[in-house]
Amino acid sequence: MNIELRNITKSFGGKKVIDSLSMEIASGSFTTLLGPSGCGKTTLLRMIAGLETPDSGEIFLDGRCVFSSTEKVNIPPERRGFGFVFQDFALWPHMKVRENVAFGLKVRKKPDIERKVMEALHAVQLDEYADRYPSQLSGGQQQRVSFARAIAMEPSCILFDEPLSALDAMLREEMRSELKSLVSERGITSVFVTHDQTEAMSMSDMIAVMYRGVIEQYDTPENIYSKPCSAFSARFIGSSNWIDDFTMFRPEHISFTPSGDSDIEYRAVVSGSEYLGSSYRILMRYGDEKWIAECDKRIPPGTEVPVYINRNSILRIGK
Ligand SMILES: Nc1ncnc2c1ncn2[C@@H]1O[C@H](COP(=O)(O)OP(=O)(O)OP(=O)(O)O)[C@@H](O)[C@H]1O
Ligand SMILES: [Mg+2]
Repeated sequence: MNIELRNITKSFGGKKVIDSLSMEIASGSFTTLLGPSGCGKTTLLRMIAGLETPDSGEIFLDGRCVFSSTEKVNIPPERRGFGFVFQDFALWPHMKVRENVAFGLKVRKKPDIERKVMEALHAVQLDEYADRYPSQLSGGQQQRVSFARAIAMEPSCILFDEPLSALDAMLREEMRSELKSLVSERGITSVFVTHDQTEAMSMSDMIAVMYRGVIEQYDTPENIYSKPCSAFSARFIGSSNWIDDFTMFRPEHISFTPSGDSDIEYRAVVSGSEYLGSSYRILMRYGDEKWIAECDKRIPPGTEVPVYINRNSILRIGK
């Protein structure tokens, strides 16, 4: 499903939460809305779904207008055709797993419900758990039920609001790739909300970096990392070492030995070394800035070290 947002604005109590935001989400893509708490991610997702009404703007799904403030169009959520997965799973506690997954299909009076339910449970490896209640499942299994419930409806797009954030770190990592393959194997367009940059980088085809209700940058993870267009983007995605307010480079471009004519030499003071297993993370100070680098050995705190950075790796950030 292709999603197009044009000049969407939304205020709550006189405070602008989304400010004239436009974006297009390509059909079949995995697109992430990434930004700090309160930047408007959930509000934007709910407006796409039809659960929240924009103050102004237009929304098109596959070229069909589903919301327009000027034309007075507002198609209700159940006719927009989205699947949903929420952070808190939102399962019915009094229904067995199979009934939870079947619920939406029954409401819509879809054919072949039993087969679709079992296929969806099979896809999330919960065939054996169909007759349990949600309280008899682990957090990860409950989240899988909510995935199964979304895919059983065979939607062309699923909206995910922080679906992994209630899970512990290890399970979260495991579920990332599971979730990604569930949707990509089915060609389902995914709009995924998170404030976790690692999650966004590892899963997304496209990331919209949001800050205070606007999109700072909308690009592939690779481009946002290597060509951040604003200081906010640069700081929010990956680690960054700053030379001044407008000039930065990524930690992997630091070398402790000179490597060629293109190097620029800086002097930094080591403040600590953290052992990572395969290497050490060296914490340094350059004036008021904190820098980090990787090194194969510890460097005693207080040591002033020359560091070399290839001038082509140093980025000027516009704003
Ligand atoms: N129904 C509402 N009534 C009043 N204010 C609201 C409402 N929903 C959201 N807001 C406000 O709008 C802003 C954006 O909220 P939103 O939930 O979209 O943020 P978010 O980016 O999803 O944050 P988080 O990462 O914490 O979930 C916040 O300041 C929030 O307090
Ligand atoms: Mg939110």
